[in-house]
Amino acid sequence: MLSKNEWDPLKHVIVGSATGAQIPKLDISLRTVNYSHVKDDKTIVTGSYPDLVIREANEDLEKLSSFLISLGITVDRPSLHDPEYYHYCPRDTVCVFENTIINAPMPLRARAGEYRAFARTFENLQSTENFNILTPVVQRNDSLYNQQCVGNKDILALTDVEPSFDAANIIRANDDIFYLVSNSGNLAGARWLQEVLGSSYRVWPVENLYSYMHIDSTISFLKEGLMVLNPSRIKDKSVLPKPLQSWDVIWAPDPGDIWHYPNYCNSSKWVSMNIFSVSPELVLVEENQVELAKLINQHKIETKLLPIRHARTLGGSFHCVTVDVKRTHC
Ligand code: NVA
Repeated sequence: MLSKNEWDPLKHVIVGSATGAQIPKLDISLRTVNYSHVKDDKTIVTGSYPDLVIREANEDLEKLSSFLISLGITVDRPSLHDPEYYHYCPRDTVCVFENTIINAPMPLRARAGEYRAFARTFENLQSTENFNILTPVVQRNDSLYNQQCVGNKDILALTDVEPSFDAANIIRANDDIFYLVSNSGNLAGARWLQEVLGSSYRVWPVENLYSYMHIDSTISFLKEGLMVLNPSRIKDKSVLPKPLQSWDVIWAPDPGDIWHYPNYCNSSKWVSMNIFSVSPELVLVEENQVELAKLINQHKIETKLLPIRHARTLGGSFHCVTVDVKRTHC
């Protein structure tokens, strides 16, 4: 069965690649979605990431893949190597909901074709698994982007003229799906998702928590009923959708040191809690996040500490650089 939550025992996964990673020429989509917090356009670096970043990120992704393979898990890698943006974070691009795969209507124009690099995995599975692949049509006209967001985190980058979101705005707990409304996902996207998934799922919009990109440095799931929350963005469980208010919480500790390459920073230090579960008993944690690992261990969950040196530079740690395709669900 294909994956429907963030924690059941992993069988098959896609791991990203840093090869060819670049920051494309600045357009309205990139300016508003990725860089609304930056005042001066001239400080935004574009072009290929430095060779060192690509080399070290690929070494770490290779280590991650080898570890997962050593556990008997099938690991796929991107089949194309000439991205307009990057193939480092498959989590942003594709979302698996048991028998529905969504090729996400990503707001960045440069990411419109990114799914092609991951499509082979799903093509190969079509003879053995029963699922549909949905590819919503997105225009990405200028009217999708609200330029007033630049310098104002209370104004979001996307209007609601059409559904648009990165798949990493979503985190799954079986039939309950939590969708961050932010610069990288509009409310129209949450409504569209509810419509296409149908009444056996409930899509819960998560609003007014974090304006920028993706949910998985704000809320992470460890198993049914246990989550990690970011105390700098969430003060109390009562601000979360109803099903999460009864879950137990590990409050993420102050992140251990996470360096980023000078002038290239795609994420806050809270990428520390971008963890990835191999099973309800084992979770992958960035090697400097020792305090977080200790707190997780107190819940009888083992942690595997691995390097991911460019998590901040490229904007993703273990949750972002993976997409869980198959898990064994009880
Ligand atoms: N944009 C997020 C990281 C997402 C993995 C942050 O900066 O916290």
